[in-house]
Amino acid sequence: MRKEIITYLSLPPTGTQPAPKLISFLEEGENIIEGALLTQEQYWYPIIQGVPSFLRGSLKPDYTWFQEKHGLPPIHDEVEPENAGEQRLTNETFSDKWRRFRNYGLEPSHQEFLGDWYCKKLGLSTVDELKAFYQQREYILEVGPGSGFNTKLMAENTTGQVFAVDISDGAFASFENTKHLPNCYVVQADLMEMPFADDFFDFIIADGVLHHTPDTKKALLAIYQKLKPGGQMFFYVYKKMGAARQFCDRYIRDSFKQLDPESAYQACEGLTELGRELSRLNAQITLEKPIPILGIPAGTHNVQRLMYYNFVKCFWNEAFDYETNNMVNFDWYHPHNAWQHTEDEVKGWLEELGVREYSFNPANPNGISVLLTKPS
Ligand SMILES: C[S@@+](CC[C@H](N)C(=O)[O-])C[C@H]1O[C@@H](n2cnc3c(N)ncnc32)[C@H](O)[C@@H]1O
Repeated sequence: MRKEIITYLSLPPTGTQPAPKLISFLEEGENIIEGALLTQEQYWYPIIQGVPSFLRGSLKPDYTWFQEKHGLPPIHDEVEPENAGEQRLTNETFSDKWRRFRNYGLEPSHQEFLGDWYCKKLGLSTVDELKAFYQQREYILEVGPGSGFNTKLMAENTTGQVFAVDISDGAFASFENTKHLPNCYVVQADLMEMPFADDFFDFIIADGVLHHTPDTKKALLAIYQKLKPGGQMFFYVYKKMGAARQFCDRYIRDSFKQLDPESAYQACEGLTELGRELSRLNAQITLEKPIPILGIPAGTHNVQRLMYYNFVKCFWNEAFDYETNNMVNFDWYHPHNAWQHTEDEVKGWLEELGVREYSFNPANPNGISVLLTKPS
């Protein structure tokens, strides 16, 4: 954690001023690796493995060892965030995932795929356009960065300051992957209680994050509050799919989410193999008639894609190794919360927020990619 972050923080629940007192126990280069942020009310937030943590109530790990180790005051009357139990289950999935896949998106074989993926999502044509998109932003926030591959790309391509907020151990992976960048700050927090002032950021991105909270719409409202008037925001949420896919998803998720992560990875292996074998067939079929009841259009379909989009998640991408492909299937079927939405539903949310300028970018049929501008 870089010391300068203190000037940008507005702490929950009250946004107390003056800024908390920064106590440093261990430093490495420009970063505080272990320390604490102590408020005037004697409430403290730990800095562990380079990351300040703002989790509260039962979302917060037991830090008694940290308190005793550093002689910090005891904390009473901890506030319990709404639906913390649900969110905690989702965190367990992602903390486990990011401990196993700390370098997801950073390996050279991932870069091309992910570069194209972001271009499509943001409605841009080339990676150079993508880099130019970030260049002039002053304050950028990534919500749910996971391994931090995109936070890193943004920080490397802007003259501004880049912040990343993840509720899970993804925060530690993101810090490790960006700690060398002088304009990058990672914190661990629930997006419903981010330690930043409202109307602060001029670009916010939440890619595949909001639908993993207890309530996607409330999550959108919470991050939108942090966007400056005239600022832009991108979010990607899962789209409600056809009946057969919905049925399979519900059935599989209800079973897999009860498994511990290791067993769930193993349980996903058959799906991953199915994806790989169908993908390697490279076969196509042409349907002259659509199947409206299942949401399948007429036309020529790659067989693996047809299966994947309409029946069961069986992801496979040759750019990834077997474990990473299997993780993508795990990422779909293990999180406790993974809501799906319709475009009309999302349009309704935007209307409620008073957003008039927005685009739905056609990045993939499983999701809704939205780029919006907050009215000035
Ligand atoms: C599917 S991953 C997406 C990661 C990354 N954006 C990507 O595209 O690879 C979802 C991420 O959102 C984070 N997340 C879920 N709920 C959150 C919340 N309430 N506050 C902050 N982060 C959250 C998870 O910890 C996880 O890292």
